[in-house]
Amino acid sequence: VGREDLGSLHGIPFYKSFIEGWPQVEAFQARHDDLLIATYPKSGTTWLSEILDMIYHDGDVEKCRRDAIFNRVPFLEMKAPKIPSGVDLLEKTPSPRLVKTHLPVQLLPASFQEKDCKVIYMARNPKDVVISYYYFYQMAKIHPDPGTLAEFLETFMNGKVAYGSWYEHVRGWWEKRQEKRLLYLFYEDMKKDPRREVQKILQFLGKEVPEETVARILHHTSFQEMKKNPAANYETMPSSLMDHSLSPFMRKGISGDWKNHFTVAQNECFDRHYQQHMAGSELCFQTEV
Ligand code: A3P
Repeated sequence: VGREDLGSLHGIPFYKSFIEGWPQVEAFQARHDDLLIATYPKSGTTWLSEILDMIYHDGDVEKCRRDAIFNRVPFLEMKAPKIPSGVDLLEKTPSPRLVKTHLPVQLLPASFQEKDCKVIYMARNPKDVVISYYYFYQMAKIHPDPGTLAEFLETFMNGKVAYGSWYEHVRGWWEKRQEKRLLYLFYEDMKKDPRREVQKILQFLGKEVPEETVARILHHTSFQEMKKNPAANYETMPSSLMDHSLSPFMRKGISGDWKNHFTVAQNECFDRHYQQHMAGSELCFQTEV
């Protein structure tokens, strides 16, 4: 897979191969007991997916190691040459299914709403998202060349990265939380108090789990454990798609890494842009924990 420019899907910058698969995604048949994991890229999707798969398997670590996370929690809109698409994988997955998507809320296939599926959305502060995305652009070859960090910051602020504007994404899903069965979580909260956040998820799912299972879930989904777990760390992806020598998928897993990257001027510019684009929203992000 060589680097190529992004295409556009209903005005959202999107991978060209995913655009080819779009008709299949649009026609996707959700099931009432599907649980949708929705995020803007680099917001803790894999972490949340591993937590949910552990919950679905009552903390059975062996079952969660049976296959790579991208097979256990299929990526709805994924489409690449020579491998099954996200929809192909999902159609073969027995219920209850976990479904991963990065789609902005307005592009979600209609059947999720029709079937009234539960959704868990996770958002992360945009300063850490843009840094994480910058490294991901480098290691995942489906992306165009990100250029310098200064250039990439511009691209991100202008909403020209894959999946478009972070601002519109987090706001769009936030506004939907009244009408959908949706739990809105934050990466920073999960970092600060994972036990409390896992309890929130269990309550949302209407599931009771013994304390020792919760402890197993928390241990198995810690950054250190996931980083060394080949079923969670993406190292089984073909190296033509992801080159971990450029940057590991499990990179740092912290809040506030942006401070090691932004200059003072870049930070001021980012803050101004943030104020403009989040004005009037009650959404609130912590940029360090
Ligand atoms: P960094 O690049 O900042 O380290 P996604 O899964 O949405 O692509 O997000 C990837 C980001 O989540 C990466 O951030 C990755 O390190 C981080 N991450 C993955 N698993 C994590 C965990 N168990 N705890 C904390 N962060 C985690």
